[in-house]
Amino acid sequence: MLRVNNLQVSFATPKGVVTPVRDVSFDVGRHETLGIIGESGCGKSVTAQALMGLLTPRTSRVDGEIILSGERLDVLSSGTRRRRSGRDIAMIFQDPLSSLNPVFTIGFQIEESLRLHTSLKRQQRREKVISLLEQVGIPEPARCASAYPHELSGGMRQRVMIAIAVSNAPSLLIADEPTTALDATIQAQILDLLDDIKRQSAMGIVIITHDLSVVARLCQRVVVLYAGQVVEETDVVTLFQHPRHPYTRALLAARPSAGREPKSRLDEIRGSVPALDALPPGCAFAGRCSQATTRCLEDSPPLRTLGGAPHQVRCWYAENTGSPS
Ligand SMILES: Nc1ncnc2c1ncn2[C@@H]1O[C@H](COP(=O)(O)OP(=O)(O)OP(=O)(O)O)[C@@H](O)[C@H]1O
Ligand SMILES: [Mg+2]
Repeated sequence: MLRVNNLQVSFATPKGVVTPVRDVSFDVGRHETLGIIGESGCGKSVTAQALMGLLTPRTSRVDGEIILSGERLDVLSSGTRRRRSGRDIAMIFQDPLSSLNPVFTIGFQIEESLRLHTSLKRQQRREKVISLLEQVGIPEPARCASAYPHELSGGMRQRVMIAIAVSNAPSLLIADEPTTALDATIQAQILDLLDDIKRQSAMGIVIITHDLSVVARLCQRVVVLYAGQVVEETDVVTLFQHPRHPYTRALLAARPSAGREPKSRLDEIRGSVPALDALPPGCAFAGRCSQATTRCLEDSPPLRTLGGAPHQVRCWYAENTGSPS
């Protein structure tokens, strides 16, 4: 349903042009949840912004194809994409407070989104607001509709954002770290809600996260990004049982187990991601990889398909890394 081909995003900065997303391709099917994981700065949010059409030609350059239900979105004007944003692809963010307008009630803001994208009459919109709030598990929908954003808890605000996102039945929902700002119990409830929504509609979902437990809980396929490139893509079972890229293996090894911190941050891997303006000539992960050879330092490996189930890995030695370390 969504096909992204060779997506590349560059920004002009005072230090020169940087390219935080480099040749990224993936698909998302109907009813499918794709996870995009990787450390801070690896290009997850910039990828999402490019899919949403939020990057303007004035400050950025976006190359590659974005195809939704057979239609090329990347060739549409930014005005057209803005008008259709929320209907083709909807997005929810880590911090719902920054996406909600503090001076309008929740009901008004959901209704506004319906007014923009549907032909519902005023009374129908009012009714739809209440049913959307019910659908996202808000206990007193009428009261919530007349409340202002600051009067709700973080979890309730995120439910409201999900209600707005699904209000126009988008083909695709992108959730960028949707639960990072919430405490553990509320996180689990929001993940359950996203899972329910996926079951009830044909929508595809892209979940951007640092948290491997979110991936295990919700996703069927996973794209691992490193320094703006896809380094591994596979189904979730293969990812956890037979990861092939040393970076993926390091992420899994850094995962908390019983008795350790319940929250998995991916920044526990030794060393750091290379700066965008100082990418090495070879493999971007070589500087942190315990198995790197001279070849890895000199030649950048291509993304290769391994035999069997669709499994792609960007490592010269993917065949040699059989079992998880
Ligand atoms: N408008 C911009 N101009 C220049 N550089 C940018 C711009 N937006 C993002 N970047 C750079 O692109 C890189 C990728 O950023 P991005 O926000 O996609 O990371 P991320 O993977 O979402 O990280 P996090 O997990 O911290 O949210 C970063 O180095 C960031 O500084
Ligand atoms: Mg981000």
